[in-house]
Amino acid sequence: MIIAVSGKGGTGKTLVSSLLIKALSDTEQDILAIDADPDSNLPEALGVDVNKTVGDVREELKEDTAKGRIPTGMNKWDILDYRIMESIVETPKFDLLAMGRPEGSGCYCAVNNMLRRIIENLSSNYDVIIIDTEAGLEHLSRRTTQNVDVMLVVTDKSKRGMLTAQRIGKLADDLEIKFKELYLILNRVNTENEEEILGKAKETGLEMAGVIFEDDEVTKFDIEGRPLVELPNESNTVKAVSGILSRIRSN
Ligand SMILES: Nc1ncnc2c1ncn2[C@@H]1O[C@H](COP(=O)(O)OP(=O)(O)OP(=O)(O)O)[C@@H](O)[C@H]1O
Ligand SMILES: [Mg+2]
Repeated sequence: MIIAVSGKGGTGKTLVSSLLIKALSDTEQDILAIDADPDSNLPEALGVDVNKTVGDVREELKEDTAKGRIPTGMNKWDILDYRIMESIVETPKFDLLAMGRPEGSGCYCAVNNMLRRIIENLSSNYDVIIIDTEAGLEHLSRRTTQNVDVMLVVTDKSKRGMLTAQRIGKLADDLEIKFKELYLILNRVNTENEEEILGKAKETGLEMAGVIFEDDEVTKFDIEGRPLVELPNESNTVKAVSGILSRIRSN
C-alpha cells in the first residue's frame, strides 16, 4: 500500500506522515518512509539522520559521468538505482529515503521526476510506503503521485489550506488520477471552532478521514526540537492519527 500525504505548506503533512509511521511501526510490516519535500524535515520528525539524498546521488552521478568515471558498457540507470538503494537509511522499525534537492540552482523537478521511478522500483520490497510530499499541487501535475493508493490531504482551518485541498481533489479528477482512497484530514482544530471548520471542510468536497486538535504537547516538542515519533501513545494526536490509519485499512 502506498500512502501519500499532501496539502498546503505548513498544514501538518510531516506531523501526519511521522505519526502514521509511528503507528505502523508497532506492526510487523516492512515500511519505507519517503521524504519528497525538498525542504526536507521528515528525518527530524522521525529522529533519523540522513547522510545522502537522491539529489546528492544524482549530482554525484552527473559528476562521475562528466569526469569519465563510469565504466563503458555499464547502464547509467542501473548505477543510479543501485546508488539510490544504498542511500536508504535502515532503522529497526522502518527505512527512510530522502529525495532532497540538487545543489546550487539546479531544478528540483529532475529529482521530483525520479520519484515515480523510485516508487515503482521499491514498491515490491515493502508492505507500506508513506510519502511526505512537497507542499502544493506539483506532485500531481508532474504525476509523481499517480500510482499512490491512498492520498491524504491535510488542511488547517485557513481558507488557503482548504482551497489547496479542494484543488488537489479537482486536479486529480481533471488528470484522471484515480486514487483508491482520497481523504481530507483537518488539523489544528480547537473545540470552540470545530463546528464552523467542519462546515468549511465539507465545502472541499473531500471525504474526511479524521480531525486532529491543536496540541500543546506538539508545540512543546517543536520548541525542544524533539522527534514527533517520541510523542507518548496516550497523546490525543497520536491516537487521532492511529484512528486515521485504521480507517484507511478498513476500506
Ligand atoms: N495539531 C497540531 N498542534 C500543534 N502544532 C502542530 C499541529 N500540527 C502541526 N503542528 C506544528 O506546525 C508546524 C507545521 O507542521 P508540519 O511541519 O507537520 O507541516 P508541513 O505541512 O509538513 O509543513 P511544510 O510544508 O513546511 O513541510 C510544525 O512545527 C508542527 O509541529
Ligand atoms: Mg513537511
